[in-house]
Formats: sequence, structure tokens, C-alpha cells
Amino acid sequence: MNIPVNLGENSYYIELEHKAASSFPQRVKQLFKGCRFALITNTTLYSLYADLLNRWKVELDLVIFTIPDGESYKTLQTWSSILDFLLQSKLERSSVIIAFGGGVVGDITGFAAATFLRGVRYIQVPTTLLAMVDSSVGGKTAVDHCTGKNLIGAFHHPRLVFADTSFLVTLSDREFLCGYAELFKYGFIGGRDMFSFITANHDAILRRDASPLREGIQRSIAIKAQIVEQDQFETTGDRALLNLGHTFAHSLEKYFNFSEILHGEAVYWGIRCAVETSKRVGLIAASDMQAYDSLISRMKMPTLPEKPQPQVLYENMSSDKKVASGKIKFVLPSIPGTSVIRADIPQQIIISVIESVFP
Ligand SMILES: NC(=O)c1ccc[n+]([C@@H]2O[C@H](COP(=O)([O-])OP(=O)(O)OC[C@H]3O[C@@H](n4cnc5c(N)ncnc54)[C@H](O)[C@@H]3O)[C@@H](O)[C@H]2O)c1
Repeated sequence: MNIPVNLGENSYYIELEHKAASSFPQRVKQLFKGCRFALITNTTLYSLYADLLNRWKVELDLVIFTIPDGESYKTLQTWSSILDFLLQSKLERSSVIIAFGGGVVGDITGFAAATFLRGVRYIQVPTTLLAMVDSSVGGKTAVDHCTGKNLIGAFHHPRLVFADTSFLVTLSDREFLCGYAELFKYGFIGGRDMFSFITANHDAILRRDASPLREGIQRSIAIKAQIVEQDQFETTGDRALLNLGHTFAHSLEKYFNFSEILHGEAVYWGIRCAVETSKRVGLIAASDMQAYDSLISRMKMPTLPEKPQPQVLYENMSSDKKVASGKIKFVLPSIPGTSVIRADIPQQIIISVIESVFP
């Protein structure tokens, strides 16, 4: 199935496939005739998929570079090592870079593609659920800086996203839940139909049942594509909806030193806090309360190292880079499938939400 992302001259397709990895070289040769290719992946993925990648290497005559695995390597140093490799391999302006991996490989490869020879084309081959439903779509590329995540980067859209759900077979349950948090999020911003879909398929997707999982990914990509089309360079504010649960999540990640919990786990908790906040400020009508309660009661919350202190979490939110004029912005569910952005939630409400949500 092909999902278009309509961005004028930056338009591209997301090809959602299953067990189609062996046809990738053929597809790529059709789209990028006569080009040279480089593939960037990490050490974990290279050892898991060495046979496949070596077949691609022969068929596409590509060069492969592996970076160390982990967010801590999403740095200018690793980016620089990728550029060294591309230059030493004599890649050209017409060459195409392939990112094979999760969000870390995708973000850093995209940034390398944005900056190599003032910008070359690249392809995303997302291998995590998070990368399929979120990071491979939208053209945000970046590396981290010691003062914060994703602070150095560029908008640079891929020319193709090739998302093959069979790669998810090797993904750990913990990483799967992290990706699911982003998929689950679309249930609150993607319209009533998506809310109903998530409600009906929440348990099945978590069990990785093939059909609902694939449909969930497809729906999520289509929703993200639509939001990106409305706000390609994050200037109109529409993309802010994608931050549902993230105000709480960033604060939690900071609380646990960006190391003890994963981003998706924090997002999953953040969505729970956002729904609770909506209830307390009256954004959810009495007639919709049961629909929300039934969904929330089935969320399988990730374990936290300890109960976070509400006041510290709140202070973390106040110092977040997304705070504008001292006001903390929250994306809050209202009608099922629709969320609103609010910057007027009193501190005592947020504190009481945190008190009640965390065990
Ligand atoms: N660009 C964007 O719009 C955007 C959006 C959301 C998140 N992000 C970024 O994405 C990153 C997180 O991405 P992620 O959650 O994919 O993490 P990740 O890339 O670190 O992957 C998680 C782990 O899973 C492993 N892995 C990947 N695919 C696998 C597979 N098929 N089988 C087994 N193991 C596999 C990786 O080696 C890694 O250890 C963060 O850096 C975040 O900032 C970017």
C-alpha cells in the first residue's frame, strides 16, 4: 500500500509492505536509475540483518556504514563520521543515502543527507514501530547536543519511506510498546474513527496481531502525513498536536535522567496524564467519559523506577524549551479523536493529576 505525502516538490510515498524486503533493490533501482547508494545502519541491526543487507549490497552495489547503537550516539561526532565515510566512498550529489534502522539511525542519516554536499536524496527504511508511525515521516532530521535533544538539525524530506512490518518481528516488547505509545497517540488526535479503531484493537495490536497492527500503522502514517502536509516546516502550529502527552513525557524523561525510562514509555504515561487533566478541566463531556475510561483502564503502563515527585515534575515542565511566555502548553483530549492546545491549566490541577496518575 502506498500512502502519499503531498508536499509540492518535496512530495514522496510511504510504501507500507510486509515481507517485501527482497524486492527493495528492484524498487529503488526503478526510482533512482543509475545512482550510487550508501546505507547507514547500526551495529545491532547489521548483525540481525547481515544476510539481507549483504544481498542488497550486491544488488545495488552499495556501500554500508554502521554506527554504534543508542541515543547517546546521535551526536555531531557520529554525524561527522558518516560524512567522512560518504566522502571517502566518493559519493556524489546524485547519490542516494538509505537509513536502515529506528528513529536514531533515521534522524542522523537524514541530517547527514541534508548536509552532505549541501543536500542529497535519502530513503527511510524504518525498522522500529516508532520509526514507522512517527520519525520516518515528516522530514525532521537532527542530532542531540549536550544541552538538549534534537537541537541541531534540518528539515529534509526523504524521497521514499519503505516500511516493511516484517522487520518488527525482531523488535523487543519494550521497544514495541514505545512505538505503540505513538500509535496510541493518534487515537486522540486522528478523529473519532481512529479513536474507535484504537479502542477496538488496543489489545490485539499490543499482542502484535498482524492485521490490526498493519491497519494501525497505516492509519497512523496517514494521519501524520496529513498533519505534516498542513504544517511542513512547523510554522502554522498544526504539528503541535503531535505533542499530545509529550509535555508530561519530557518532564518524566528529565526526572529519570534521560536514561532510566525510554521516550515512548514516558509518552504512554504522558497520554494518561493528559486524559486525566482533560477530565479535571471539563474538556471531556459526561457522555464520552465511559469511552475514555474503558480505553484508559486497558492501558498496560510501563514500570517506573520510582514514584515521581509532583513538584519536581512540574518544575521540569516549566523549564521545557516549548514553554512560551512562562505558560506551559498542553495538548488535551476533548471529543474522542480530537485534542485541543491549552496554556491556561492551573498548577494545582497538574500537581493533583500527577499525584493521582502515578502509583
Ligand atoms: N524525526 C522525527 O520526527 C522523530 C519523531 C519521533 C522520535 N524521533 C527520534 O527517534 C529516536 C527514537 O527512535 P526509536 O524508538 O526507533 O529508537 P532507536 O532507533 O534507538 O531503536 C530502538 C532500539 O531498537 C533496536 N532496533 C531497531 N530496529 C530493530 C528491529 N527491527 N529488531 C530489533 N531491534 C531493533 C535499535 O538498535 C535500538 O537498540 C529518538 O532519537 C527520537 O528523538 C524523531
